[in-house]
Amino acid sequence: METKPALKSRANESVPDFFPLTPRKDLPFGFMKLVCGLVLFMAGTVLGMAMRARFNWYFTSHTELFFPQTMYCADCDPETMVLKNFVKPSHLAHKMTDDELFWRATMVPKIHEFPFKRTPKVAFMFLTRGPLPFSSLWDIFFKGHEGLFSVYVHTLPEYKLNASKNSAFYERQIPSEEVQWGSATLVDAEKRLLANALLDFSNERFVLLSESCIPVFNFQTVYEYLINSAHSFVQSYDEDSPRGRGRYNTRMRPAIKLSQWRKGSEWFELSRELAVNIVSDYKYYRIFQKLCRPSCYPDEHYIPTYLNMFHGPLNANRSVTWVDWSRLGPHPATYGRESVTVNFIESIRNNGTICTYNNEPTSVCYLFARKFAPSALEPLLNMTSTVLDF
Ligand SMILES: *[C@@H]1O[C@H](CO)[C@@H](O)[C@H](O)[C@H]1NC(C)=O
Ligand SMILES: *[C@@H]1O[C@H](CO)[C@@H](O)[C@H](O)[C@H]1NC(C)=O
Ligand SMILES: *[C@@H]1O[C@H](CO)[C@@H](O)[C@H](O)[C@H]1NC(C)=O
Ligand SMILES: *[C@@H]1O[C@H](CO)[C@@H](O)[C@H](O)[C@H]1NC(C)=O
Repeated sequence: METKPALKSRANESVPDFFPLTPRKDLPFGFMKLVCGLVLFMAGTVLGMAMRARFNWYFTSHTELFFPQTMYCADCDPETMVLKNFVKPSHLAHKMTDDELFWRATMVPKIHEFPFKRTPKVAFMFLTRGPLPFSSLWDIFFKGHEGLFSVYVHTLPEYKLNASKNSAFYERQIPSEEVQWGSATLVDAEKRLLANALLDFSNERFVLLSESCIPVFNFQTVYEYLINSAHSFVQSYDEDSPRGRGRYNTRMRPAIKLSQWRKGSEWFELSRELAVNIVSDYKYYRIFQKLCRPSCYPDEHYIPTYLNMFHGPLNANRSVTWVDWSRLGPHPATYGRESVTVNFIESIRNNGTICTYNNEPTSVCYLFARKFAPSALEPLLNMTSTVLDF
């Protein structure tokens, strides 16, 4: 904290000028008594006036104490001590380091009832290097549902997202850091997105999406499905292969056993409770940071393994984001404009059984799909009012 020594020393200097500490010896005693009496009388008057003013103030503006409109300090932001800004920061920009942010974001109120009207929201967290080619599709998806969602975008640090004022993506970029795909910095970016979204106490569900994801159901379906689910949706499975158990490092013992090791898609959906737990975990995260290096990929193992170890019953163990890995190779199949037909969209939706919500589903259900090329945008926009039903 900054102190202000300049002011203090100036005050000290001025004291002897106006209030001599000892009366001068050469003044007659009677004169001194008169002066003292006068001073006492004046002090009494001033005190009385001040008390009355304070008394009046207390009764006329008592509410000011609890809901201050004005702050009685010279150098403070009048907005800082208002609850509204504590439960939902008005700006996404901040100067916190990750450690500071994670600490702040993982605070959980002990009182379970909210002293404000809380409508649970879904946080849509976009992890991208730069542009969001489907932002106009998402804007149609979000339209009319303001207050039920929040958007967060993590880009490369130098990238400036260009969104128009009426877009859900306008000023939704969070303070971002460099990310190397396949390294633990990818998990850092995920935790950074979660932590920034946790700062808004109304966010209840947190879904990670990429720039090539599209929504395949309308907002109401997605919202109800996620908000009403007792489970989070993180794919987590044990694969006895070089790409599964083969990526386990025996030096992780005894903290993490091979039997606890899991694999899963990066594209998660988490409840607030699990999001807080993941952001606050340093112990297991550090093991992955140190011992899970290519061909081990922390983004495919850390969260699935961590949840399996500590919160298994709260996880559906499947993702709500569909990725087509049917084509062999390290990258999923990408769909362009020629793929976007009514049948194709419906085949994604109905893969498995059609979603049921309210009743906890046991079937496969895809709310989001990746990966689509920017060229798919136009035919998708063409479908918003028909097959996509946005
Ligand atoms: C941002 O987008 C608008 C249209 O939405 C465009 O006119 C403008 O040139 C863009 N700015 C930059 C820096 O790309
Ligand atoms: C998911 O796996 C965990 C074990 O990690 C298990 O406890 C849980 O019941 C599974 N969830 C469902 C919905 O089967
Ligand atoms: C459903 O998805 C699986 C992979 O997740 C794929 O193998 C299968 O062909 C899909 N089925 C349909 C009907 O699209
Ligand atoms: C949009 O849909 C109409 C019919 O509904 C079709 O004639 C047109 O070719 C479509 N445009 C694109 C770009 O898919």
